Amino acid sequence: MADSNDYIVIKADEDGVNVIGLTRGTDTRFHHSEKLDKNEMMIAQFTEHTSAIKIRGKATLQTAHGEMRNGE
Ligand code: TRP
Repeated sequence: MADSNDYIVIKADEDGVNVIGLTRGTDTRFHHSEKLDKNEMMIAQFTEHTSAIKIRGKATLQTAHGEMRNGE
């Protein structure tokens, strides 16, 4: 079952995948953008500062909710 401090795993399946962190609270804005090249991975959590994560590009994600592919 999904726990609030679970990690999510993001594997880039192409160059230039963007992982964007959005702020928690009344003001929802980008606070961090990470660019991953093919076969780079990022392991991240939702935190006190991050309530949403936006992913642009072809990537494989693993979360407590399952594995999914983006950008097929
Ligand atoms: N400083 C950010 C935070 O603690 C770092 C971060 C955590 C982050 N999870 C993220 C950045 C997900 C981008 C995407 O919230």
